[in-house]
Amino acid sequence: MTAPAPSPAPDSTGGPGGGSDLHLDLSPEGPRRTALAQALRAAVRSGRLPGGTRLPPYRTLAADLGLARNTVADAYAELVAEGWFTARQGSGTRVAGGAAAAAGAAGAPAGPVPERPRHDLLQGAPDPASFPRGAWAASARRSLAAAPTEAFGPGDPRGRPELRRALAGYLARTRGVRSGPENIVICSGFANGLRLLASLRPRDWAVESYGLPFHRGILDAAGLRAHPVAVDGDGARTGEVPARARTVLLTPAHQFPTGVPLLPVRRAAAVEWARATGGVIVEDDYDGEFRYDRKPVGAVQGLAPEHVVYAGSLSKSLSPALRLGWLVLPDHLVDPVLAAKGQRESWAGALDQLALADFIECGAYDRHVRRMRLRYRGRRDRLVSVLAERVPQVRVTGIAAGLHAVVELPRGREAAALDRARAAGLALDGLSSYRHPADRSQPREGLVVGYAAPPETAFGRALDALAEVLRRSVADG
Ligand SMILES: Cc1ncc(COP(=O)(O)O)c(C=O)c1O
Repeated sequence: MTAPAPSPAPDSTGGPGGGSDLHLDLSPEGPRRTALAQALRAAVRSGRLPGGTRLPPYRTLAADLGLARNTVADAYAELVAEGWFTARQGSGTRVAGGAAAAAGAAGAPAGPVPERPRHDLLQGAPDPASFPRGAWAASARRSLAAAPTEAFGPGDPRGRPELRRALAGYLARTRGVRSGPENIVICSGFANGLRLLASLRPRDWAVESYGLPFHRGILDAAGLRAHPVAVDGDGARTGEVPARARTVLLTPAHQFPTGVPLLPVRRAAAVEWARATGGVIVEDDYDGEFRYDRKPVGAVQGLAPEHVVYAGSLSKSLSPALRLGWLVLPDHLVDPVLAAKGQRESWAGALDQLALADFIECGAYDRHVRRMRLRYRGRRDRLVSVLAERVPQVRVTGIAAGLHAVVELPRGREAAALDRARAAGLALDGLSSYRHPADRSQPREGLVVGYAAPPETAFGRALDALAEVLRRSVADG
């Protein structure tokens, strides 16, 4: 085929070395043009070359494959004529949108696609639409321009010094954490920090009787024992930590998931336990910034820095996509944690760390947290008032802080309420799913309602659906 070149500026991306790489397996049989056209069709059909992909200039692909330039031009022209590719003045040759689908290979997963819930009230995520893209981009740009050359080398497992300095100041000011940058180790979120600690602490741990199964799973996977400590309306009963436990995992600011702050005498009891036994408290401060009442709860770490590992994360305050968190360590744990991390940082990217340091130092983090606090408090108020009006029989608890609340249910009602919720297209969890399997205290039932993430337009409808599910659950008894 000797069709004219479909693309008038085939090498506009930079001459023979320009354009993108393209791996193609050409059949050794038959004319080269036919083999190339077949390989290109197969690449589109398989989804390897999605619609819109720009193809390499003729000269580049010809050089890469050891073909004549005209052979590539002819093969491209053939695929343009067949509708697989498009060629437009100035933008070269591209894969046509929908070419794979038209060829009957859209790359759709086999089997039935699960139906998405219509109303998502699962706890866990902050509002993804409120990520401060502009301010983050400005911090990323500024910090990139100012980064020293060594920042582009292999990462230091302690984390960037700029970020550790910024965090030491921020955590002291907002959470009452007592630490210098030398006691801070950056990690890739709380779960990563917990894995590091699990790898070096003795076998017996104590955990709250209600908590994230995922976190208990991390301890299990490390071969540790996680003994339950009962949780009641004042948080974990820290006076009842099992004698053999050497490490206690707590969520003092906002018990997860029941939502209560740890009573001051229980904070003191936890510190007393640590001092008396030489034990370590791991303080998971996952949403400590989001308090809506007038009693800010400082970190337990401030009471006993030598006995508490304070763990923070961006997952609720900014976005779980960043995978950044920090451990504030007692002196005696700094070296063991660094040894557990290894000689080089494997998880937390230095450039995001630098951006975060700038984001904190320029005040953007404070501004974002304050803005989100107002927004989430508004969400929480709507949840409480809709339920108070429509289902006054239910109690909503854990509302003083955080991004979720618990709607308490009488014993024996949770499973049916969850079934109803599912049928109504409402995604949320029951309180029972967070219970430690070995918990011997009185079981509690309820629905854990995340109110931060739904888009504004969907939130009202989700609340209506929830109120209706609860109304029927309570009425049916
Ligand atoms: C109880 C609790 N701890 C910690 C975190 C933070 O986890 P990570 O930093 O691993 O995303 C979360 C979720 O955001 C959580 O629910």
